[in-house]
Amino acid sequence: MMSEKRTLFERACRGERGDRAPVWIMRQAGRYLPEYRALREEVDFLTATKTPEIAARITLQPMERFELDAAILFSDIMTPLEGMGVGSRFAPGPIIDEPVRSVEQARALRALDPDRDVPFVMDTLSLIRAELRAEAALIGFAGAPFTLFCYLVEGGGSKSFMEARSFMRQEAEGASALLELLGESMTRYLVAQAQAGADALMLFDSWVGMLGPDTYRRFVLPVLQRVVAGVREEVDRPIIYFANGGATLLESAAEVGADVLGIDWTLPLSKAVGTLGPDCVVQGNLDPAALFAPRAELASEVEAVLREGAGAAAHVFNLGHGIHRTTDPDQVAFLVDHVHAASSEQPTGILGG
Ligand code: CP3
Repeated sequence: MMSEKRTLFERACRGERGDRAPVWIMRQAGRYLPEYRALREEVDFLTATKTPEIAARITLQPMERFELDAAILFSDIMTPLEGMGVGSRFAPGPIIDEPVRSVEQARALRALDPDRDVPFVMDTLSLIRAELRAEAALIGFAGAPFTLFCYLVEGGGSKSFMEARSFMRQEAEGASALLELLGESMTRYLVAQAQAGADALMLFDSWVGMLGPDTYRRFVLPVLQRVVAGVREEVDRPIIYFANGGATLLESAAEVGADVLGIDWTLPLSKAVGTLGPDCVVQGNLDPAALFAPRAELASEVEAVLREGAGAAAHVFNLGHGIHRTTDPDQVAFLVDHVHAASSEQPTGILGG
């Protein structure tokens, strides 16, 4: 395969340690960048995500500023839902026009057909691929079925997603059918993104930390396993699964079958590796708030994360969740440079040898 194991990032995803740790940042294209805010004064968020030239430009903005090893498609996890029959808007988080609260509403949704429903995403990926430097990988992504389910049922963001979690109990069959439809749709979506030029594929499970292990295993894990298996049947790309807040779900999350597990900052990477075993690949997990620390402290937090990840087969450096919009871009430049320096200095020394 032409794209296989091409970049440092892809090699790490496959479990190979290179000269240094690859680094990228969740939500790296966005509001903390003045050039993004300037562009957004001319165009609203939805238009930006649906216009390939603009979405590609925004994707590349952080790549021009920082020595990042991967670009992530500028889009949103809600983007493919419109084609499935779900109207939504952003204010600034997603708001669903008509939350799904019945089996009938769930049945009225249709499976995503990427070519029909989101051709602009594939056009965006081709544009990015043509402009991105060859050493950088391009990440395509989708919302994980449960996280999309949360927004669909709740109707928007929430602290507890009580509507979504109670729907799973009141309408267990309807909930499973909806999760299944989302799983099938996101499988097709990820395959289409790979075919359009994505080198790696990421599933964002932002709200799954709300679930206990039994509920996760009953409703969520089987669907995710089918997504990963379904993608693998069609394309050979590393798959990253990010279970935000998923410290207590880690053993189950390992069974999803992803190549890389994204870990949030509440779980030290060494603990994750202790659970997952030395063959695992982890991504993460600097607290986004560390970017607000004085540089000496930021540097030592970066080094601590690298040390924590040293027991894994490979480690993709990242934050433990998305970068905050008030972050100073100069701190990001320092972070990226320091990951480069600190992870290449003493690849064995950080193990204490
Ligand atoms: O740089 C990148 O990571 C690529 C772009 C990207 C966006 N959203 C752009 C965006 C990605 C990967 C996402 C995923 C996403 N969207 C997730 C999963 C990751 C996570 O943070 O847990 C979730 C839960 C959403 C839903 C969403 N979209 C929220 C909660 C918000 C508003 C609050 C926020 O964090 O900005 C959005 C809007 C959104 N998505 C913006 C951007 C740049 C802000 C839009 C703007 O006002 O310009």
